[in-house]
Amino acid sequence: MSNCKIIAVSLEKGGVGKTATTLNLGAALARAGKRVLLVDFDPQSSLTVSLGLAPEDHIENIAALMRDAISEKPIDASAAIVRKESMDVISGHIELSAVELSLSGVFCDHFLGSILTPVRARYDYILIDCAPSLGMLTINALAAADSVLIPMQAQYLSAKGVELLLGVIFKMRKRINPNLAIEGILITMRDRRTRHGREMVEAIKAAYGGNMRIFETEIPASVRVSEAAAAGVSIFTHDPVGGVARAYAALACEVDNAGCMEARDA
Ligand SMILES: Nc1ncnc2c1ncn2[C@@H]1O[C@H](COP(=O)(O)OP(=O)(O)O)[C@@H](O)[C@H]1O
Ligand SMILES: [Mg+2]
Repeated sequence: MSNCKIIAVSLEKGGVGKTATTLNLGAALARAGKRVLLVDFDPQSSLTVSLGLAPEDHIENIAALMRDAISEKPIDASAAIVRKESMDVISGHIELSAVELSLSGVFCDHFLGSILTPVRARYDYILIDCAPSLGMLTINALAAADSVLIPMQAQYLSAKGVELLLGVIFKMRKRINPNLAIEGILITMRDRRTRHGREMVEAIKAAYGGNMRIFETEIPASVRVSEAAAAGVSIFTHDPVGGVARAYAALACEVDNAGCMEARDA
């Protein structure tokens, strides 16, 4: 058994910071010396674009790998891996939507797992950026993952999304992936000035804090995050001393205790 941990970053609601978290948590772990693979598993391919990669440039992408897996061809994930910011990346592609449509019925949940299993020993962390849906792509991600990291904004609507996701996680545990853990809930885009935000964070802690980790680290709202994405780089390249970079470094500490010590000593 390898020590690699596969984390799916998931929530059905869009715009909560899944992609920003996958990229910047990955970059923080890489900076702490961890071997990291990012997988863009959203047809929108925002992660790929946020890393300055053009999805159409990569003939070998996650959609092509999924097609190979589905048609039981030999799978070579290595051919699809590109290097960015000291991380390995498998880029996304719009074709993933068509792939998702072809996945229906039973025995369609293990294809991403069959792509990642042969390479997992090479990494300490594999982070999967999920699409904002609970369709078959996300089911594949949850089947392949060891844990789920749930980013949410302190808003009523994203709290509803968490209920939906937890329902799916409990079903996955029963049928497909009994060991699927919840890594934790991450509060993103936190605006400390609003009373509503404060109240929602308290409500989230009251509702879920007893059953799962809610990360102590909250990611502040900052225009720097979108700026970094537009520049095709991580927050550590764009604004290394800012609050968001500090927060993602602290989050990496919480996710990986050993990495935390290394980062502190460095
Ligand atoms: N901490 C943050 N502060 C401000 N804007 C953010 C933050 N995190 C993400 N964003 C921006 O919000 C939008 C949605 O974030 P994204 O990570 O793409 O969410 P998702 O993947 O859940 O749809 C993007 O434009 C992104 O740049
Ligand atoms: Mg996204």
